[in-house]
Amino acid sequence: MSKTVNIDWTNLGFDYIKTDLRYISTWKDGSWDKGQLVEDNMLTISEASTALHYGQQCFEGLKAYRTKDGNIQIFRPDQNGKRMNRTNLRILMPEISEEQFIDACVQVVKANEAYVPPYGTGATLYLRPFMIGVGHNIGVKPAPEYLFSVFCLPVGPYFKGGQTPVNYTITSFDRAAPYGTGGAKVGGNYAASLQPHQDAADRGFADCIYLDPTTHTKIEEVGAANFFGITKDNKFVTPKSPSILPSITKYSLMHIAKEYLKMEVEERDVLIDNLDQFKEAGACGTAAVITPIGGIEYNGKLHVFHSETEVGPVTTELYRILCGIQYGDIEAPEGWIVKI
Ligand code: PLP
Ligand code: COI
Repeated sequence: MSKTVNIDWTNLGFDYIKTDLRYISTWKDGSWDKGQLVEDNMLTISEASTALHYGQQCFEGLKAYRTKDGNIQIFRPDQNGKRMNRTNLRILMPEISEEQFIDACVQVVKANEAYVPPYGTGATLYLRPFMIGVGHNIGVKPAPEYLFSVFCLPVGPYFKGGQTPVNYTITSFDRAAPYGTGGAKVGGNYAASLQPHQDAADRGFADCIYLDPTTHTKIEEVGAANFFGITKDNKFVTPKSPSILPSITKYSLMHIAKEYLKMEVEERDVLIDNLDQFKEAGACGTAAVITPIGGIEYNGKLHVFHSETEVGPVTTELYRILCGIQYGDIEAPEGWIVKI
């Protein structure tokens, strides 16, 4: 009775595919309704929605994984629910309870089970929760109504090649202001990133790296992922700044480095002029997973870390443990996995 879909799982990229059902809930008069699964993947909203004019909207990204025994599990959805609420607070959108957030994700995975890629294909089911301000409004003020939705699609690696190192270039643009919305997952940050990304891609780089918007001396974000470096004395180092999006993958890797690999972990400034301290570097995020950084171009010079073609041993180990936990091959720290 279970449905099968005709998808070449091993050749998936990161592209939109319409799946069967999505969750939608609306907020009106101070509360969320109980939400429902719908077939229609098109939205009809007021032309005067704040999401369209004033960027009052946000999104999240998380994944469901097929385990070796054929079951399905979601990685740390509570953390995405919490982060969405921190974003909502910043742009005056209503809170959504963690229970409703997780329940929506679980319902969507169950309803689209046929699209959860088989274990061993390297593909996963990407969940995209989002919230938008809707209803009729024209002044710059919070919307009268909101819509919360979760849809899903099967995805492969964000960067073609997956676990092969890629090169990045430093951009002179900023994606966020020093105390702006860089730490919140709002669409405006991504609109600001389109041109610097395109410039980097046109020059043959996977993406660009942003420096801190105040002094342009410290590494902040690696495109739509966080940065980490492994120092020559084997510490896991990652930048700290209010304008970085707090990556759930990054905090998971910090835990793995400390508890599984017994490494020292530091969240601190990473000066662009001091890349020599690192023997390995990587970009981490839900879509990027761990993308090894071959080299970083800055002021016309490419600084190569471990190698432009081979992944370093610490990055390999971090990747093995992270994926092992996500796919259910390695026991997860308490609370990290929601089984479907
Ligand atoms: N930084 C940015 C700008 C992102 O868009 C993402 C993706 O969500 C990340 C970092 C990584 O965050 P996470 O590991 O929670 O997916
Ligand atoms: C994610 O990793 O979920 C992201 O947000 C990256 C995305 C913008 C493609």
